[in-house]
Amino acid sequence: MTGTAQGTTTPGESEASRPAPAPSPPDAMLPHPWRVCRAVKETSDTFTLELVPEPGAPVTPFAPGQFNMLHVPAVGEVPISISGDPAYPHTLIHTTRVVGAVTKAMGSLRRGDALGVRGPFGTAWPVQEAEGNDVLFVTGGIGLAPLRPALYQVLSRRDRYGRVVLLYGARTPEDILFRRQLREWRADFDLEVHVTVDRATGDWRGNVGIVTTLIPRVPFDPYNTVAMICGPEVMIRFTAMELERRGVDAEHAYVSLERNMKCAIGLCGHCQIGPYFVCKDGPVFPYAKVAELMKIREV
Ligand SMILES: Cc1cc2nc3c(=O)[nH]c(=O)nc-3n(C[C@H](O)[C@H](O)[C@H](O)COP(=O)(O)OP(=O)(O)OC[C@H]3O[C@@H](n4cnc5c(N)ncnc54)[C@H](O)[C@@H]3O)c2cc1C
Ligand code: FES
Repeated sequence: MTGTAQGTTTPGESEASRPAPAPSPPDAMLPHPWRVCRAVKETSDTFTLELVPEPGAPVTPFAPGQFNMLHVPAVGEVPISISGDPAYPHTLIHTTRVVGAVTKAMGSLRRGDALGVRGPFGTAWPVQEAEGNDVLFVTGGIGLAPLRPALYQVLSRRDRYGRVVLLYGARTPEDILFRRQLREWRADFDLEVHVTVDRATGDWRGNVGIVTTLIPRVPFDPYNTVAMICGPEVMIRFTAMELERRGVDAEHAYVSLERNMKCAIGLCGHCQIGPYFVCKDGPVFPYAKVAELMKIREV
């Protein structure tokens, strides 16, 4: 390993890759006040908010893969994964794509604006379990944001892993997230990064095509690999299937699922998929656990 990561974790931080126990009701239903300290426009439709706690708001350690419920006063509340470094829970970072009313309102927040935070909720990427293995991150679009905390942790203990590879698909070159950081990580941490776009624009001379087309180009030991996959559901399914074809056990491929959510603590049933509540049993699942359920939903 060479170089030093921005936001490197400190010794003894391994607890951070275990999910924080979800707050229990009624506390879990109560948004706490946080304030925007920085708002960054990432792409034409995606932005990052950095939040700091208002006096009295609890700061809870979070694990990579967990999400918060973000409440925009007078508009509504949405689940958004944490995209920042788990070593720094005092600043909550979320990266969001505008799709509807709440995400649009969040996108217009500026430094000093307030919003409510409940969480963190859900299961984590298997960062510790992956030690000693090759790690393959596969992501499409905004899916890079929920994976970024796992990348921070893996790269902060780079010597504990074999080959670390990120395969990333974006719609166009202009939609590539965290460009500068990916360049730095590639240079400093022996992170192998392969990017592809659906549609080449400008002077793009890189790969064109869906992210699964990158898989055969990457040498990894399928019997000694942990995969973490995040993106649109159809991309997750095809990626997991391709990895299985290459010999990666479905128990070693982890996926993050999205469902509509209300309570985020397993009470309302909005996020149910088969016997599981995505808010509580997920969002991160071993693919083996949800593969059949994901097929049924798409029929
Ligand atoms: C556990 C979890 C983690 C999430 N993490 C992130 C994250 O890190 N960043 C992020 O940008 N989003 C994330 N999402 C998705 C985010 O919660 C939704 O985009 C948001 O709830 C939409 O709310 P809205 O009021 O803006 O739009 P709505 O009015 O609810 O929806 C507007 C339109 O967008 C469609 N839509 C809703 N959700 C999605 C979606 N996920 N993808 C595509 N179209 C959608 C709806 O069908 C509708 O047509 C996550 C969802 C879950 C369940
Ligand atoms: S959101 Fe209520 S049960 Fe999951």
